[in-house]
Amino acid sequence: MKVLVVGNGGREHALAWKLLQSKQVKQVICVPGNGGTATMEHCQNLPLAVDDFALISQHAIANNVSLVVVGPEIPLAKGITDYLQSQGLMVFGPTRAGAQIEASKAWAKALMREAGIPTAKAAVFTEANAAKSYVKTQGIPIVVKADGLAAGKGVTVAETLEQAHDAIDAIFQGQFGSAGEFVVIEEYLSGQEVSVLALTDGLTIRPLLPAQDHKRIGEGDTGENTGGMGAYAPAPIATPELMARVQTEVLEKAIASLKAKGIDYRGVLYAGLMIAPNGDLKVLEFNCRFGDPETQVILPLLATPLEELLLACVQQRLSEMPPIAWHQGAAATVVAASGGYPGEYEKGKVIIGMHEAETAGVTVFHAGTKLNQQQQVVTDGGRVLNVTGIGENFEQAIAQAYTGIDRIQFDGIYYRRDIGHRVVTRS
Ligand code: AMP
Ligand code: GLY
Repeated sequence: MKVLVVGNGGREHALAWKLLQSKQVKQVICVPGNGGTATMEHCQNLPLAVDDFALISQHAIANNVSLVVVGPEIPLAKGITDYLQSQGLMVFGPTRAGAQIEASKAWAKALMREAGIPTAKAAVFTEANAAKSYVKTQGIPIVVKADGLAAGKGVTVAETLEQAHDAIDAIFQGQFGSAGEFVVIEEYLSGQEVSVLALTDGLTIRPLLPAQDHKRIGEGDTGENTGGMGAYAPAPIATPELMARVQTEVLEKAIASLKAKGIDYRGVLYAGLMIAPNGDLKVLEFNCRFGDPETQVILPLLATPLEELLLACVQQRLSEMPPIAWHQGAAATVVAASGGYPGEYEKGKVIIGMHEAETAGVTVFHAGTKLNQQQQVVTDGGRVLNVTGIGENFEQAIAQAYTGIDRIQFDGIYYRRDIGHRVVTRS
């Protein structure tokens, strides 16, 4: 079969790479893809915009594509699945109605309340003064969120009233575009975060291995938030007991509630959870897609052929599948970023040493890269590469990832040296 993957990040490179490990998958087309998908065997890039649904559909049909897998949230929220399905294509990823679970935090909060899913106490405002008065009654720390998609930048954990007020003003002044029509003010939760990505066909929901990512730019989890500087799986904090609770208290309730709303949700439901020191579990957010960079550590450990699972979701027969099989051991990924990220940075720097890195055993997933006119791989984004190690345990996986990334160079390369600090000191 031929599969078309929509997106251009490390997540999409990992999806294409994993799909191609299956005998059933002969070719992957990435729209638009990156330097990694351009140079991978049996993979090709198609330079279309991820929201040009008509062109994507034409090319998918002309190429006899059997399955479309959508990586990012923006095309899902804009209805790529609805459109491609109407053209007769099989699509992994929820419809526009289902994608609201990520695209509107207020909508997701209402769903959680109705379904009885544990989450932080929150209130929604359409106007700044009311939001600020509420903040005053609640006190700090407090969390201020823009309602809609803001590429991870719409959330402020405010430690002073002034920070909370500034965040409210920024949202209502339209700094996050249409994400700024509502503001969600939420109780601050402390603890450890864990990402549980689950596959669903709208009736059955099965979790993948739990993962943890490092969101901050600086070592010791300090500094600005980013799209993610590294990740590892399986996250030890998510014990089998905790995963059983996530299944019944979060995932099954969410799917039942979506179904009750008439939403046929087939794709990934990603629960971002906060685990309190006393073991309490609460949902911080839902995403309607695979996580990035979590996918880059989950898929290397997956033993069941990926396309079998994705097709079972799309064809609504996940309950008939045997349990998802996993390789033993652990995976860790370290993100190589452009100097200056998450602020301003330069692009077009030639990347060397990737082959040498791979001889250390790592898999190098490309994120922000492309091929230049001379067919050299150059930087093309803030997060450039995800260097992924696997091993029998976290020590091995993390050591391998660092041996690999140390062999890679480009002008301004930056990466954190402490990815996995929680799991390495623990074991
Ligand atoms: P979200 O997009 O809602 O997951 O928020 C992005 C990040 O902000 C999360 O991964 C957390 O690190 C942080 N965050 C969000 N909500 C809260 C909360 N209620 N308490 C503490 N931190 C939060
Ligand atoms: N790693 C966070 C996300 O994918 O939203």
